[in-house]
Amino acid sequence: MIERTLAILKPDCVRKKLTGEVIARIEKAGFKILGMKKIKLTKETASGFYAVHKGKPFYDGLVEFMSSGPCIPIALEKENAVADYRTLIGATDPKDAAPGTIRKLFADNKSENIVHGSDSPENGKIEIGYYFSKKEIIELD
Ligand code: RTP
Ligand code: MG
Repeated sequence: MIERTLAILKPDCVRKKLTGEVIARIEKAGFKILGMKKIKLTKETASGFYAVHKGKPFYDGLVEFMSSGPCIPIALEKENAVADYRTLIGATDPKDAAPGTIRKLFADNKSENIVHGSDSPENGKIEIGYYFSKKEIIELD
């Protein structure tokens, strides 16, 4: 099934000047980029986006980190996009991530792990809608 998933190049990815490297890997893996922008999340926007984790011990640090500098949300489309993108980025903690994955290659630790990915096709659609309006999604190429 053709699915959509939301990637975010997190603030550590931007700070480390890895955005080009990571986007190249996403493109080479066959994902179509439907939309992409650079933004700086407010604490409110970051809190809302990660609301599912509210109450967990890492939540406040996660909100702080995600609003600490610019990030790059990217709307992606592909056959089996959600699972294939999560295979490409690897496990949440780079220590557990498979060799060659984006987090294994570039992430420092479980908190600052370079990229976000949606966890289901339903959430892929919802999360893309959190950052992109309909007219910012370009399906032409
Ligand atoms: P993401 O949502 O960002 O794609 O990451 P994920 O599905 O692999 O992991 P999830 O459990 O949804 O956690 C969301 C983000 O919270 C931070 N985190 N830190 N220090 C910790 O124990 C911890 N656990 C999670 C990470 O930035 C993780 O990506
Ligand atoms: Mg998650």
